[in-house]
Amino acid sequence: MIKGGVAILDFGSQYTQLIARRIRELGVYCELLPGNCSWSAVEKLAPGAIILAGSPYSVYGNGSPMPPEEVFSTELPLLGICYGMQLLAYRTGGKVEGGHHREYGPALLKTEESCLFKGIKSDQQAWMSHGDRVTEVPAGYTIVASTDLLPIAAMENSEIKRFGVQFHPEVNHTVFGSDLFENFLFGIANLKANWNMKYFSAQAKQYISEELGETGKVILGLSGGVDSSVVAALLHSAVPDRFVPIFVDNGLLRAGEREEVEKTFREHFGMDLVTVDGEDRFLNELAGVSDPEKKRKIIGRVFIELFEEAANSIPGVTHLAQGTLYPDVIESVSFKGPSATIKSHHNVGGLPERMNLSLLEPLRELFKDEVRELGRELGLSKWMVSRHPFPGPGLAVRILGSITREDRDLLQKVDRVFIDYLREENLYDEIWQAFSVLLPVRTVGVMGDERTYDRVVALRAVTSTDAMTADWYRMDPRHMAAVSSRIVNRVNGVSRIVYDISSKPPGTIEWE
Ligand code: XMP
Repeated sequence: MIKGGVAILDFGSQYTQLIARRIRELGVYCELLPGNCSWSAVEKLAPGAIILAGSPYSVYGNGSPMPPEEVFSTELPLLGICYGMQLLAYRTGGKVEGGHHREYGPALLKTEESCLFKGIKSDQQAWMSHGDRVTEVPAGYTIVASTDLLPIAAMENSEIKRFGVQFHPEVNHTVFGSDLFENFLFGIANLKANWNMKYFSAQAKQYISEELGETGKVILGLSGGVDSSVVAALLHSAVPDRFVPIFVDNGLLRAGEREEVEKTFREHFGMDLVTVDGEDRFLNELAGVSDPEKKRKIIGRVFIELFEEAANSIPGVTHLAQGTLYPDVIESVSFKGPSATIKSHHNVGGLPERMNLSLLEPLRELFKDEVRELGRELGLSKWMVSRHPFPGPGLAVRILGSITREDRDLLQKVDRVFIDYLREENLYDEIWQAFSVLLPVRTVGVMGDERTYDRVVALRAVTSTDAMTADWYRMDPRHMAAVSSRIVNRVNGVSRIVYDISSKPPGTIEWE
């Protein structure tokens, strides 16, 4: 979308997305391409520089991914990171060897005079993660960094603007990583820091208007979550009279959610919001169903039926908008290919084809934190844009087993107390996602002088960066004690609270 950015060739390293994050943080647009893509795919981006990223492969191994040949003859500035450096050495006359000790973790880097390390002091920590290493640099290159264990930790040929680093400047443990990228992007490749959300917003609005043409009209399934809320704000700002958000209340939302969404989008923004009251339909169809996948399928189906009904009642609709983000796009185009489905997440799959609508995905180039920034830029409140993710099937996957209205009401109350507590104590923003789970068992307790036989609630709070992996949040026992007694005191029917200390993997974030 933007010329003069960076093309990052992805060879399957776990860190490749981080490179993109770092570069965008510096205000430069970049995109990931599968490492073995064609040269025309690279040219299509019209990049101002190329980065060859890391990989679990060896450059001389069977089936190791190779970039298009032209990468080695282009005049564009080139930075090879880890496997990328080894590729550069291997393919242009240097030597790469395996069989050394695998080096993983921090190392002190000794740097030489070099444009890549300009302003970067020697003896700072860099992060290593490699088995192979470059043992001879190609002709015309000089060695510009080393460690005690690694004689060639970085190489450069500043004449033709080609650089290689064995360590990972993209991870935070490499303390000067951003400085190195700055040197490469601005000092060497002369790129411009023109990527920001104001700029993106203007471009995206133009894209939306062009896509819709003179007469197009767009609808959106608004869930109240960050992504769809930001899409709504963007569409409203681009084509206010030709945009209709549809909010399906499935009766499994957080307490006060529907009111909040209506207040924000209908009252504050003045959108033409359509609310579908689906509580009865969803709860009736879910009655007696306890299998998690069956519950998800039912919710997915009913959602589509109700959404389609609502959409059909709006005349002249031509487009359906979706809050697809860049990590989803990367996932499907990456060198590694899409990962296996662990849980079938529901979306409006199949709907665009059936209703003959074109798909509009205005956020497909953004990372989550960029989406949040865009939301703020478009006037959404901090409360709205910094909310924790909430699953499409809502409380249905947090009420274990079959669902009743009473249980739904109970869980809404508990969750409200938990989340309010986290906000009051300023813990909310430290946590990726926090919620309560209602367990289908009763336990014995004692309140006052009476024996009770009430429900158990599990509290879950996790830290994560992308929900692919997660760790349990180390909540201070003082907070655990306070929130636990607050819940039991305020919500009738709950007598025991447990805190979930499972990470993902092996657990998942949600319990179902
Ligand atoms: P899991 O439980 O798979 O969750 O570790 C990863 C992230 O996805 C959310 N999640 C869902 N989101 N539909 C959704 O839209 C679903 O069926 C669903 N299941 C889980 C979960 O809340 C977490 O953020």
